Amino acid sequence: MADHNIMQYTSTNDEQESALQNKYMDEAAFYVDALSKQLGRKPLCCVTTFGCQMNARDSEKLLGILTRIGYLPTEKEEEADFVIYNTCTVRDNANQRVYGRLGFLNSLKRKKPHLKIALCGCMMQEKSVIEKIWQSYRFVDLIFGTHNIFKFAQLLVTMFENQEMIIDIWQETDQIVEELPVSRKYPYKSGINIMFGCNNFCSYCIVPYVRGRERSRDPKEIIREIERLVADGVVEVMLLGQNVNSYGKNLKEPITFAQLLQEVEQIDGLKRIRFMTSHPKDLSDELIDVMKHSTKICRHLHLPVQAGSDRILQAMNRRYTKEQYLSLVEKIKTAMPDIAITTDIIVGFPGETLEDVEETIDVVRKVQYDNAFTFIYSKRTGTPAAAMENQVPEEIVREGFDKLLKVVQDTARERAALLQGKVMEALVEEVNEQDDSLLTGRLSNNMLVHFPAGDIQIGQLVMVSLDTCHGFYYTGHVVDKKLSEAQLRDSLRELEKTQQFPIK
Ligand code: SAH
Ligand code: SF4
Ligand code: F3S
Repeated sequence: MADHNIMQYTSTNDEQESALQNKYMDEAAFYVDALSKQLGRKPLCCVTTFGCQMNARDSEKLLGILTRIGYLPTEKEEEADFVIYNTCTVRDNANQRVYGRLGFLNSLKRKKPHLKIALCGCMMQEKSVIEKIWQSYRFVDLIFGTHNIFKFAQLLVTMFENQEMIIDIWQETDQIVEELPVSRKYPYKSGINIMFGCNNFCSYCIVPYVRGRERSRDPKEIIREIERLVADGVVEVMLLGQNVNSYGKNLKEPITFAQLLQEVEQIDGLKRIRFMTSHPKDLSDELIDVMKHSTKICRHLHLPVQAGSDRILQAMNRRYTKEQYLSLVEKIKTAMPDIAITTDIIVGFPGETLEDVEETIDVVRKVQYDNAFTFIYSKRTGTPAAAMENQVPEEIVREGFDKLLKVVQDTARERAALLQGKVMEALVEEVNEQDDSLLTGRLSNNMLVHFPAGDIQIGQLVMVSLDTCHGFYYTGHVVDKKLSEAQLRDSLRELEKTQQFPIK
């Protein structure tokens, strides 16, 4: 790789940095304006996101800058003049999808030589990926990683000024640059980064290597951002971090995640609070107590278990046992009987036997998850698990996976059925994709309900009767607010009776 392609912009302090980037935005706008004159129309940009909520939020920042410098957004790559892929590398299939689609982008660029193609995100933090793109995908114009996304405007200017591929990857950063533009996907809800990176090093996981060490944002900045969002029409926020339960530990004035939640709760006009993701080892009694007494925190907890066998949990470096996890769930369900618990599970971790998978299935039966994301283990180069010798043969993985999936689906269906006929509050999110006379709302427990639109607006909170359960969603109708509050109380009381404790 030629050295002159490799940029390494140095950093200034965070405030100077945002002023600097704003200047680069003005400069980039000249190039976009010139392109606009050449094309006889405003150029279009397409931001395609792979991976988790953290990447989705980063994409809103990318789009914020692109629209600020004069691009119009489009969701169709084929009509765009600038395409950027914000990539994920947590499992190999995410990488393969990117390579597959790059072939398509190449064919687009042949037809439209002014098309600019950029790649960023977690996958770009891997050296082997950069080498592969350098060798086989030379048509890519700009590559950067997760640590310097705040330099996007500056990198765009460099891209416009050069014909060759621009690569800028940082290994780390301690910077958190505020005050850059963001273009939100939804007017009524928003993700908020409360921390970046991860220190946990679960042995299968690449995230700590591509997102760096854990850094928490200043609580004042978080509150200020949410206040601004609320003033702009947001009623629901999702606080984002790889392990929100360790939020605030590395701040100059340490604060706990539960304390942050209490401050967020005070924000007038904010109606709902969600957060992702909770590591079971760090979930405190204080958090359970704050959730229990909150009127805004949604009744949903995503609590990844990953495996049920103690031997596998230990090899995964999860730092809890099956017993400890189940006790934690019991504590949570006792405090909040109506809470929905969801999880992530990996099948096929090195050395995992079908007996081990039975332990995982046992956890699913005991916890009664409202939903579970099940993944087949994917070997990630550079992680400790990739070097383990006892990788599991594919047919064994498949057998365990299919068995687990069936139990997961059966229990989720049973849980969903419990709410049929109940009245619950829903945030109206969008017009139904299949039938535009229906609206789709999200319940506090994260399930979806479809109901006739009437004169209801998107972004409103309404009471909905969950008339029919269809396994993983409901159809229903909106009910009168006053009447529904009494119904809601009855519904909750009934629901509490259906919960069986203890779970062990
Ligand atoms: N920080 C979050 C998870 C982020 S990654 C947490 O700790 O809960 C999202 C999920 O991807 C993980 O929960 C895990 O189930 C899955 N995952 C991570 N690495 C994986 C791998 N190598 N193979 C398969 N699934 C993996
Ligand atoms: Fe990965 Fe574990 Fe960190 Fe989650 S907590 S991002 S699974 S290392
Ligand atoms: Fe993927 Fe990066 Fe998120 S690897 S899961 S996009 S933190």
